[in-house]
Amino acid sequence: MRNIFVLAMISLIALTGCKQAKPVKTIENLKAGIKGETTASAKYAAFAQKAKEEGHDAVAKLFEAASKAESIHAANHTKALEALGEKMEAIKPEFEVKSTAENLQAAIEGESYETTTMYPQFLKDAQAEKAEKAEKSFTWAFDTEKKHLEFYKSALNALNAKTEAQLPAGYAVCPVCGNTYDAAKVDEKCAFCMTPKEKFLKF
Ligand SMILES: [Fe+2]
Ligand SMILES: [Fe+2]
Repeated sequence: MRNIFVLAMISLIALTGCKQAKPVKTIENLKAGIKGETTASAKYAAFAQKAKEEGHDAVAKLFEAASKAESIHAANHTKALEALGEKMEAIKPEFEVKSTAENLQAAIEGESYETTTMYPQFLKDAQAEKAEKAEKSFTWAFDTEKKHLEFYKSALNALNAKTEAQLPAGYAVCPVCGNTYDAAKVDEKCAFCMTPKEKFLKF
């Protein structure tokens, strides 16, 4: 009888000491997100260089700003992953650089995938697994990519219509969440994370 009691106590201690189950899907999603954001950041930096070479300065600024935003998303996803006790393996970004018009089209396709497929699924999984940090990081990225998509569409239209002079003269990026603004139309505080505009990075 005493043995059973001891056994029961040990089981109880083991059970209560047991950590919550790991959010398995979210961990995979964070890793995929880090890979996607890191690749996008490197790709947009290369696209910015190409745009400069081709004399599309306004488009180059957009790519530079978006490149920074994606690196902020990658860093935030990495923090969320590490908070779950996981580490990211080394990755090698792979992409192709073509003409600026083709690069803009590729950027539109990438952002479309992230905003219609990838992040909506990641957010569903994070909510189901109650992974709050990951959910916040995914939300900031998702909301930013929707803005990038619109900026890229406008840039491609302007390139085709030869109205690049009407594109924003510069961009501002929130250093905390990556939110990206037309520099002439910033909010007093970041609409996603409330960081004051004085802290925004300028491109
Ligand atoms: Fe983006
Ligand atoms: Fe922000």
